[in-house]
Amino acid sequence: MDYFLYSPLQKRLSPLFLLLFLIIVTTTTTTLKTTLAFNVTTLMTFGESYSPLFSEFNIQRSQDDKTVRLLLNRFSGSGIISSDYYNYGFFSANIKMPSEHTAGIVVAFYTSNVDTFEKNHDELDIEFLGNIKGKPWRFQTNMYGNGSVSRGREERYRMWFDPSLDSHRYSILWTPKNTIFYVDEVPIREVIRHEAMRGDYPSKPMSVYATIWDASSWATNGGKEKVDYKYEPFVTEFKDLVLEGCIVDPTDQILSSNCTDQIAQLISKDYTTITPEGRKSMKWFREKYMYYSYCYDNLRYLVPPPECVIVPSEREMFKDTGRLRDKMKFAGSHRRHRRGRKSRRRNRNSGGEAAVAM
Ligand SMILES: *[C@@H]1O[C@H](CO)[C@@H](O)[C@H](O)[C@H]1NC(C)=O
Ligand SMILES: *[C@@H]1O[C@H](CO)[C@@H](O)[C@H](O)[C@H]1NC(C)=O
Ligand SMILES: *[C@@H]1O[C@H](CO)[C@@H](O)[C@H](O)[C@H]1NC(C)=O
Repeated sequence: MDYFLYSPLQKRLSPLFLLLFLIIVTTTTTTLKTTLAFNVTTLMTFGESYSPLFSEFNIQRSQDDKTVRLLLNRFSGSGIISSDYYNYGFFSANIKMPSEHTAGIVVAFYTSNVDTFEKNHDELDIEFLGNIKGKPWRFQTNMYGNGSVSRGREERYRMWFDPSLDSHRYSILWTPKNTIFYVDEVPIREVIRHEAMRGDYPSKPMSVYATIWDASSWATNGGKEKVDYKYEPFVTEFKDLVLEGCIVDPTDQILSSNCTDQIAQLISKDYTTITPEGRKSMKWFREKYMYYSYCYDNLRYLVPPPECVIVPSEREMFKDTGRLRDKMKFAGSHRRHRRGRKSRRRNRNSGGEAAVAM
């Protein structure tokens, strides 16, 4: 219900205040961008790194084979999988979301080994949940280990930009010590491995996936908004692919490949340790854009899972359901400024925030 705030607030604020506000916002964003650049190599072609996973007819590769488009149409979604399994690594791509009406669509960039370990698989997810045109995009991150599918570790967020306008870099860093999810250079979530997690922390070799698919039953507004094929095909674009890590044979139980050196190299990279500036931008993101966290969902987990770090400034934002206490928090979203009269009225009737579908 963030939309209500805008008009009255706008009337009350003097132009000087607005100008000041804009200057502050611009400066903050610029600082974020300039202080934390990744040093990654992005020379990979699709053929060198990935293979089609399903519906090859819906996968389009550019002439230089460095950009791949995944399509969803009324016949099928599509997906790709890394040609290798990795025993820890850094996986990243510049991704552009489909535009227009994308309700019911999920675009996922994730790691998994469900093909090899059906009953006790590991998984790290970034999932973009389609939206109604004009509404802010949402996405979630998640972690499973050793088949812990009954213990979801979801966090949900909005984005501070429109991911369908330009490509942005999304990355998953996975080491034996920690996992970090990045959006551009902003570390949005860090899970530090806690001994008590036991197998819940992913520790078996995984491959990397990217998919687009019809998730009408749950993705948008708790499943109320379905994919509308009037807008097909839905196209998501992946480029500047990065796959860094120790390549292993997943079926090799004794792990004859020795990853010690490569893991040490991974741990020494700048993106494995969050700098003080990185902490600042992470705090900024989480306080402003996170709207669900399993760590604060006391109805689901009476005792938060062991890796949860309860941050007081976050804790006070959430109810016992793990959802936001004050939905007005989102009044600060940049998107509000672009929203037309018509969609504002429609949103008013849309029944508030989407339920977190589990
Ligand atoms: C980036 O990484 C490469 C190889 O790891 C290294 O040679 C180069 O000096 C690094 N550049 C910067 C700016 O850190
Ligand atoms: C993995 O899961 C199996 C079956 O649920 C369980 O018996 C085993 O103890 C788990 N391993 C670890 C390391 O948690
Ligand atoms: C793996 O390699 C490291 C350094 O290269 C070495 O110290 C270690 O003993 C090796 N481990 C195994 C199990 O071979």
